[in-house]
Amino acid sequence: MTDHIVAPADELEEGGRIITELNGREICVFNIDGEYYAYNNWCAHQAGPICEGNITGTTEASFDPESLEVSLDYCREGEILNCPWHGWEYEVKSGKCLSRQKVQLPSYAVRVEGEDIIVTL
Ligand code: FES
Repeated sequence: MTDHIVAPADELEEGGRIITELNGREICVFNIDGEYYAYNNWCAHQAGPICEGNITGTTEASFDPESLEVSLDYCREGEILNCPWHGWEYEVKSGKCLSRQKVQLPSYAVRVEGEDIIVTL
């Protein structure tokens, strides 16, 4: 395991992201609400550039067994990373895929030390 300086922390504002290459891999660091998350820029569907996708919300369905009605609600704004190729959705804070069960973005330890963002891989 090796530490890599990605950028000065003041270059990554809240809601922003930095994509860089470390050890031949494209790695993205997100700043979400002041917390940092690092993932491979690689979607589990067909290897699309997941980290270049929009951060949005998602649509959740609920079913009322009495009326047999299904309703859709848009929710979780700012928590969902959408793959720009085919729209698979991932939780940006965990890497968990919402589009397929048991799919997870590979993640890396990331921290701020002094003035720098450091990713360990
Ligand atoms: S490559 Fe990401 S959804 Fe297809």
